[in-house]
Amino acid sequence: MADYQTHEHDVLVIGAGGAGLRAAIEASAGGVSVGLVCKSLLGKAHTVMAEGGIAAALANVDERDNWKVHFSDTMRGGQYVNNWRMAQLHAQEAPARVRELEAWGAVFDRTPDGRILQRNFGGHKYPRLAHVGDRTGLELIRTLQDHGIHMGMEVYMECTVVRLLKDGDRIAGALAYYRDRGRFVVFKAKAIVLATGGIGKAYKITSNSWEYTGDGHTLAYDAGAELQDMEFVQFHPTGMIWPPSVMGILVTEGVRGEGGILLNSKGEQFMYKDIPDLYKNQTAKDPEEGWRYCTGDRNAQRPAELLTRDHVARCIRREVKEGRGSPHGGVFLDISWIKAKIPNAPEHIKRKLPSMYHQFKELGDIDITKEAMEVGPTTHYIMGGVKVDAESQMSRVPGLFAAGECAVGINGANRLGGNSLSDIIVFGKRAGEYAAKYAKEQSAPALHNDQVEAAARWALEPFDRQGGTEGPYNVQHDLQDMMQDLVGIVRREDEMQKALEGLGKLRERAKRAMVKGNREYNPGWHTALDLHNLLVVSEAITRSAIIRKESRGGHFRDDFPAKVEKFGKVNLAVSKSADGQMDVKEVAIPEMPDELKQIIKEMG
Ligand code: FUM
Repeated sequence: MADYQTHEHDVLVIGAGGAGLRAAIEASAGGVSVGLVCKSLLGKAHTVMAEGGIAAALANVDERDNWKVHFSDTMRGGQYVNNWRMAQLHAQEAPARVRELEAWGAVFDRTPDGRILQRNFGGHKYPRLAHVGDRTGLELIRTLQDHGIHMGMEVYMECTVVRLLKDGDRIAGALAYYRDRGRFVVFKAKAIVLATGGIGKAYKITSNSWEYTGDGHTLAYDAGAELQDMEFVQFHPTGMIWPPSVMGILVTEGVRGEGGILLNSKGEQFMYKDIPDLYKNQTAKDPEEGWRYCTGDRNAQRPAELLTRDHVARCIRREVKEGRGSPHGGVFLDISWIKAKIPNAPEHIKRKLPSMYHQFKELGDIDITKEAMEVGPTTHYIMGGVKVDAESQMSRVPGLFAAGECAVGINGANRLGGNSLSDIIVFGKRAGEYAAKYAKEQSAPALHNDQVEAAARWALEPFDRQGGTEGPYNVQHDLQDMMQDLVGIVRREDEMQKALEGLGKLRERAKRAMVKGNREYNPGWHTALDLHNLLVVSEAITRSAIIRKESRGGHFRDDFPAKVEKFGKVNLAVSKSADGQMDVKEVAIPEMPDELKQIIKEMG
């Protein structure tokens, strides 16, 4: 083997957002040696974009809340194709994980009697989101980072993994490179936890930053794991749309949780025009009742603005398409109107939504205490990911675990806001615990030179294409445009077939994508390597979306606008066949045990 820097750990965690950090903490607590690989700097993660809060049935604001209501809300939000066992574990364990964060020093907003304050969010029956203003994800990361660095783990920053290494069927390590100097580094590990987040960069408009290129999804797929539910992409209803340079940046659902209303250009509160049957008995009859709900009236139902994200995003798209949009192609989100209802509204808004206040002031020159924001849907999250065992988070590849956004399970067809922060701490902990346990039971795997060398050669190929005409950025931009237009919020068979054809062409172009210069500080090279991941996840999304001939949650088809019973009983599993082709097949969802069915029935 070439003389690569090599590190050996029992457990290697790839990805250092909330899920990765929580996994690394738990694995370290299990007494094994842990390496934590970050694509960028430690602490810079999409976790911070879950701004409005962590969903956990603490019942601090409404004592009627409990894990059963949370479970039932999560299943309804996911339109019943969720992994019910994961949804159950998540609802049961989230309160303990939040209290643990508090014990580790996380700061939360408080109720008058000093307990963790909880706010309303879409699809949650009761105020359930523990929060600190609109910076909850940031506080979660800060807490885990402060706690984690004292646990003895090794942190490798600005380090990107290009390939997982195997010893026979089992995981043996990974080949990565440092982004600054481009030097390769080999990690030898008995167990690997993937916690790389999402795929947002496959789309043009996204709340995700540059790191989110489907790395964990693709590493797992290439290593023989299965992906599932890839057709379910979440378009968060409210991203910034103006100025163009900030298009897609998240505007937290917390704005609507605090009473923000959505208006079209005619000044209509359009969300009240169209309430889905599934939510009719849980939605306010008019805006006045919706506001009463936001102020804590227990007899009021939630406002139509707090319906699930998939529905709100589609309603916004409809208003824009039918000519009732805002000047820059979105709709208006107004929190300033609450000055008609409460004294000191500007101070209240700044206290509850400090980041939103600064974000709009600094990036858009808008004072949200005085004027409405312009917002539109932004690609925020993928419900699909690596298929894992519910208890242990291990994939079908022995020793390969996944947690957080890059794993599939709790969310089904649509994730409720706030469930991602609880997901990453519940299943991050489980992944770390079981990975450590697994590692302790295993002998050291062997690293095979041929695999390391093949992966390194593959990574260096873009430098060998001198004289080529294709640049990696062009391919990436064209991919993002195509996914946005043809496999976006509303989908059709003919458009997705066109996308599939387009993906074939983009793959050919990616093979010719040439990189100039050398390995040091070379973002063109990094982009060329990311293209493989973006193309794999885009193909998985498109193929699965073509097969699911119905509309459910985040997957909406113009040509099949209703739910189809048969599809409510299956998930779509994606794997790589022996000849390297992508296979997508229907797999039956296991029967839910009677006690869980009973809970859903009781919750109406
Ligand atoms: O709107 C938000 O604050 C995002 C939360 C989430 O995605 O969970």
